[in-house]
Amino acid sequence: MSEQEKSGTHYAVHWQEEDYYYPPAEFVGQANMTDPKVFERFSLDNFPECFKEMADLLDWDQYWHTTLDTSDAPCWKWFVGGKLNASYNCVDRHLAKFKNKTAIHFVPEPENEPIMHMTYQELYRRVNETAAVLRDFCGLKAGDRVTLHLPMTPELPITMLACARLGVIHSQVFAGFSGQACGERIWDSESRVLITMDGYYRNGKLLDHKSIGDTAVDVAAKLGQQVDKVLVWQRYPGKYSSSASMIEGRDYFMNDLLKTYARTYVKPVSMPAEGILFLMYTSGSTGRPKGVQHSIGGYLSYVAYMSKVIQDIHPEDVYWCMADIGWITGHSFIVYGPLAIAASTVIYEGVPTYPDAGRVWRIAEELDVNIFHTSPTAIRQLRKAGPDEPAKYNYKFKHMTTVGEPIEPEVWKWYYNVVGKGKAAIVDTWWQTETGGFLCSTVPALAPMKPGSAGPGVPGIHPVIFDDEGNEIPAGSGKAGNICIRNPWPGLMQTIWKDRDRYVSTYFGKYNKNPESKDWRDWPYMAGDAAVMAADGYVRILGRVDDVINVAGHRLGTKEIESAALTVEEVAEAAVIAAKDEIKGTVPDLYVSLKPGYEPSQELVAKISGAVATVVGKIARPNKVYIVPDMPKTRSGKIMRRILASISNRTDVGDVTSLSNPEVVEHIRKQVQG
Ligand code: PRX
Repeated sequence: MSEQEKSGTHYAVHWQEEDYYYPPAEFVGQANMTDPKVFERFSLDNFPECFKEMADLLDWDQYWHTTLDTSDAPCWKWFVGGKLNASYNCVDRHLAKFKNKTAIHFVPEPENEPIMHMTYQELYRRVNETAAVLRDFCGLKAGDRVTLHLPMTPELPITMLACARLGVIHSQVFAGFSGQACGERIWDSESRVLITMDGYYRNGKLLDHKSIGDTAVDVAAKLGQQVDKVLVWQRYPGKYSSSASMIEGRDYFMNDLLKTYARTYVKPVSMPAEGILFLMYTSGSTGRPKGVQHSIGGYLSYVAYMSKVIQDIHPEDVYWCMADIGWITGHSFIVYGPLAIAASTVIYEGVPTYPDAGRVWRIAEELDVNIFHTSPTAIRQLRKAGPDEPAKYNYKFKHMTTVGEPIEPEVWKWYYNVVGKGKAAIVDTWWQTETGGFLCSTVPALAPMKPGSAGPGVPGIHPVIFDDEGNEIPAGSGKAGNICIRNPWPGLMQTIWKDRDRYVSTYFGKYNKNPESKDWRDWPYMAGDAAVMAADGYVRILGRVDDVINVAGHRLGTKEIESAALTVEEVAEAAVIAAKDEIKGTVPDLYVSLKPGYEPSQELVAKISGAVATVVGKIARPNKVYIVPDMPKTRSGKIMRRILASISNRTDVGDVTSLSNPEVVEHIRKQVQG
């Protein structure tokens, strides 16, 4: 691999530096953070004590004595000695002032179903009763793991908060993931309880969801993890919306169980700050998804602060993040961050363009949403489906977010001018499942926006770009490299569940020179993204440097897709590459070669594509499956994915003469490009 490839500069699109856009005065006038000294307070000279400013947003049962303990570097411990409960901080403590205020606005996908407005008092009641079921019926206690496979309804945050109330570690698996994927996560986390729902709406259809949970339980059992209880929420309480049978002695309707625990109060368990709040599985460069482990005190402090300072949420705002709670964005910026600061947060069940391109803007108008948070893919989709729709609706955003993938300046400008009507501040937030909350973004009232660039590090985050040898690439040099963060911060994952070695090698292996060091300065965090830093310190993210594909802002491991393809009898070899896509940013193109004696056919293409959807989930379904006579390979037999990527993306394949089979390249090119 060339240096250029390693550092990801081959991703660099030759964008021009864009002009600044300044936040509207009206926004600045009301913003939560208008003090430019915040960056001084969070300078490295004040590290780590500066993070007290974040922790002080929470209520502590017992205040901590050590801000940062580095004795087990790089598994950092934050706010050591402190005790708190996340559910108490997100619910109970708001009752005195806000019990009658909406905590959650739930918007069902069918437009004829009314929007439900759940107050903090009602959320409190439901979290308590659910916690009682988990504790008293399931026998769950602090430190146990529970897998959730829940769609976008209020039952998901209610269940998460009920777990948090008990110190039970939740592991929510995105509802769009297959039974196989869910089962593997049940097994890895050693959950003996699965919480699911009978069905939910997507694109006008009530999907049968419970049956996927059944597969997950079977998969987990085969791997060696027994699930004793499956708790089933009902989309319509009292009515069963799935064709899967309920297994006696294993499956229970939440709706029935809750009757026994009506009005039960469950005392929040006072947990150590370094206790585990949740696991979130994410794709990495090797096959198995990794359980990213987040803490209670550090994580909650961090997301509360980011919700306040970067999202600019005030209790009187109506805040809508359109992500799915099954991903980190939803955990941090639909549930934990916003609720910790008493927000009214919107949960929308379905597809943004259902039943038509105006749906999102109708919801915004009806609820008077003033903070809107979504991904470039959703923005591109909405722009394509109805470029003039936003103007038809009477809503007004003060603040908008883009997250999950790089946004093209053209798309950014449509978001700003048409969706935001030129009146909203935009933040482009760059971060990851592992980082808990934002890493780079402008502080919206303090710095101008630059289309296509995330911005500088947020307060407390000190980004640096290294070349492959570990030399710093100076800001403004126009060169790309590996973006790293110089310092630890409270939102960073604690480790990978049951795999400390993988945590250390993946994120620190490349740039740590002394594995024995207890000095945080020796442990820059490597994000795995290529980036360029402009002279003003603004960062532009170019894409992943590892085998991870970002599809519509969701991370998929190429290895996961490839091994799914290899479950098909006829397939000998599989290679996945990221193909550029007008709407989704990138999509997986799958190249396969067949075992001797098999012939390519349309049926086989469908079978392979179906296998990926079954094993990983529909979200991973390849855009195209190409059955090729052979893979382009180096003399040592390595598949040259880069060449396949060039073919899919119609860029120059470069010099292929050193391959063991150069002739196959032209064959594949003709097959793909015609
Ligand atoms: O490549 C970066 C991209 O998404 C990756 C993280 O994915 P995930 O862990 O699923 O978290 C998504 C939500 C934070 C990153 O390594 N990414 C995320 N945000 C941006 C981005 N790329 C460019 N600009 C962003 N704002």
